[in-house]
Amino acid sequence: MPALVLLGAQWGDEGKGKATDLLGGSVDYVVRYQGGNNAGHTVVVGDQKYALHLLPSGILSPGCTPVIGNGVVVDPSVLLSELSGLNERGVDTSKLLISGNAHIITPYNVTVDKVTERFLGKRKIGTTGRGIGPTYADKINRVGIRVQDLYDESILTQKVEAALDVKNQILTKLYNRRAIAVGQVVEELLGYAEQIKPYVADTVLVLNQALEDDKVVLFEGGQGTLLDIDHGTYPFVTSSNPTAGGACTGAGVGPTKISRVIGILKAYTTRVGAGPFPTELFDEDGEALRRIGGERGVTTGRDRRCGWFDAVIARYATRVNGLTDFFLTKLDVLTGWEQIPVCVAYEIDGKRVEELPYSQTDFHHAKPVYEMLPGWSEDISKAKSFSDLPKNAQNYVKALEEMSGAPISAIGVGPGRDETIEINSFL
Ligand code: GDP
Ligand code: IMO
Ligand code: MG
Repeated sequence: MPALVLLGAQWGDEGKGKATDLLGGSVDYVVRYQGGNNAGHTVVVGDQKYALHLLPSGILSPGCTPVIGNGVVVDPSVLLSELSGLNERGVDTSKLLISGNAHIITPYNVTVDKVTERFLGKRKIGTTGRGIGPTYADKINRVGIRVQDLYDESILTQKVEAALDVKNQILTKLYNRRAIAVGQVVEELLGYAEQIKPYVADTVLVLNQALEDDKVVLFEGGQGTLLDIDHGTYPFVTSSNPTAGGACTGAGVGPTKISRVIGILKAYTTRVGAGPFPTELFDEDGEALRRIGGERGVTTGRDRRCGWFDAVIARYATRVNGLTDFFLTKLDVLTGWEQIPVCVAYEIDGKRVEELPYSQTDFHHAKPVYEMLPGWSEDISKAKSFSDLPKNAQNYVKALEEMSGAPISAIGVGPGRDETIEINSFL
């Protein structure tokens, strides 16, 4: 059995945690392939709610091996506190595997993230402040620290020295901050080494052998398509590749192994942080979506910006990820509107545009062209099959499917594991 990728089709927070957890019971491995603890994935199991940041959501499924791939950036202090938090709640985390090639988010990366955001002022990205961008920048600049470096003190010291050489100049001379001492960083990182050691593995080998043995591997994306460093709304993006190709590089598995790419798609749109968002609402509808949908960031606690569904974005996600299916989430949140606007195209400088413009300037000028779809007022949270949905809800789903370019194979009608309508099986 082959590999599946599950990823965000919009700007993150689509419900990837819930969808991953739903499949977790039927797969052998769940792998995070990019991002870090900028993610906040919520899983609701019975009356228990979990917020996972760095750990794959599969950690909550006892039969599943959770894997942190080479493409992830790991903050060791967050890792250890997330593990102990789960252990205190009775979750067995002993199967976790962490790539020795994953990069470490060092304390100075977190400092640089916060300082640069402050320095950008009005032009800031609105990052999560977790050191994600600076850690990926170090990786690309070839001055990053990897998990394996924690096990060779001399190499670790040399690498921290090399990284801090330039950074301390910038911190002291440009940002007016105190220099960071090499010894202190090395000591802190070495302090985590032994606790992390049991989990460190050659995850590329493990995953490829698992696939050869017909095991099922699920790749769990962080963030979303429009936050992708290459394909998102640059520069208002994260610093990794949440799109499907990222699963290959971020886990060391070839594209020929991947048979299914599932886009998690909210029935409306949200975004956290700065950047263009054509269907954003600033009125009571936006407020209502935020309130009913509980749209507050799991990682930073920031209110999420809310707007209507944008089919241009969904089509784009289908294209750049080669999506085979959608998992439509939070349909229940739309209950109660008489009419629901859906953005079917943009108007840019007086012209109708059907596809996402590649030009940043054009996207900033994009105004949504809405089609009104009739709403429904019945409670749909108990619906178990597509036919249980009111006719107008069915038509809303069908319309979205037609506009978005891939079949909707599951529908979320509540946060719980069982609050899902399965249309086509993912496995
Ligand atoms: P992720 O980052 O993609 O995993 O999504 P988040 O966990 O940040 O945000 C999604 C939120 O919506 C969480 O609070 C989930 O519990 C919740 N959620 C997921 N699916 C559904 C759904 O179908 N209906 C409702 N009402 N809530 C959902
Ligand atoms: P999940 O996995 C929503 C956003 C930040 C900011 C931009 C860059 O829960 O969907 P970063 O700290 O990554 O450098 O911030 O990306 N962002 C997210 N927005 N969901 C996320 O993760 C996000 N992770 C980062 O708000 O705009
Ligand atoms: Mg989230």
